Amino acid sequence: MPKVLAVDDAITNLQAYERILKQLKGIEVFPYTTSRAALLWAEDNPVDLLIIDYNMPSPNGLEFVERFKKMGGKADVPIIMITGAREHEVRYTAFDNGVDDFLQKPADPVQFVARVRNLLKLRERELKLAERAEKLTEEVRRVTAEIGHAEEETIFRLTRAAEFRDKETKNHTIRMGHYARLLVARIGLPTVTQETILLAAPMHDIGKVAIPDSILLKEGKLTPEEWEVMKGHARAGYEILKNSESPVIQMGAEIALSHHEKYDGSGYPQGLAGETIPLSGRICALTDVFDALLSDRPYKKAWPLHEVLENLRKGKGQHFDPKLVDAFVEIQPEIQKVRRMFSDAEAA
Ligand SMILES: [Fe+2]
Ligand SMILES: [Fe+2]
Repeated sequence: MPKVLAVDDAITNLQAYERILKQLKGIEVFPYTTSRAALLWAEDNPVDLLIIDYNMPSPNGLEFVERFKKMGGKADVPIIMITGAREHEVRYTAFDNGVDDFLQKPADPVQFVARVRNLLKLRERELKLAERAEKLTEEVRRVTAEIGHAEEETIFRLTRAAEFRDKETKNHTIRMGHYARLLVARIGLPTVTQETILLAAPMHDIGKVAIPDSILLKEGKLTPEEWEVMKGHARAGYEILKNSESPVIQMGAEIALSHHEKYDGSGYPQGLAGETIPLSGRICALTDVFDALLSDRPYKKAWPLHEVLENLRKGKGQHFDPKLVDAFVEIQPEIQKVRRMFSDAEAA
């Protein structure tokens, strides 16, 4: 039921308003003779229409409106101001302050009812619109979240498919995503980049699906020719992921292509150097090697952590971006937490 707040310091006026408003069925009127009390009440109660006398002891009508508008949820409540015959000029200020309509004392009952009815109708329409807008926003939010979720799942499964052919464990790619995310956070990049690389980094070796088993699964050392084929996984991964509209897959393509580049230009496939290597590629070069050295692989035992970190330090400016190595060493406590959370023992 719409709630009408009526404020007038003259009780006879208030009674007159109430009488007139009775003609409108289904509204509730809350009459107040002091503006202070009315303000207090309005703080805690919803209002659909405010009828306010201009000339009252402080706060007067204009001051009341100013405070009323600032209360939560009151900014769009329609307001009718009642003025005396000689208070004409106050209307200009009042309009500026958000008063919607005026009535002159003594209020004409027909006019009064018509204005109240119109403004309440307007109010109802606005509330419905706001509710619809709210529902739409909610719906958009839900659908976006769903798409995000579906995309995430697709990427995850794509990565899983590639791992079926690889000797590395499933948790290697998950750990890499987390390491990369922590590193991106450390160097001050925004949350969206952190979340993107978390999903994109695990795709770094997806191109291995294009490498023949005889090479990919070979026990022992690869011949130089086999090694050349093996290197092809970087470009193959890029070919699989390139030209996507998804920011995550775009970054995945970038990482696939550049995660074997080295800071001094001696890497592959393009032999890029320094900052011409995409940042995501420089990050994944570091986190990939870090995790590989720390893990047991069929051809080698896991290295102890201090040796791995020493290896990173030695690789500064050669294999790795020096700034990234420093940042990565600084976040070791968090990195070790991830390592424990996604250990290979967990995966087995
Ligand atoms: Fe790789
Ligand atoms: Fe890897």
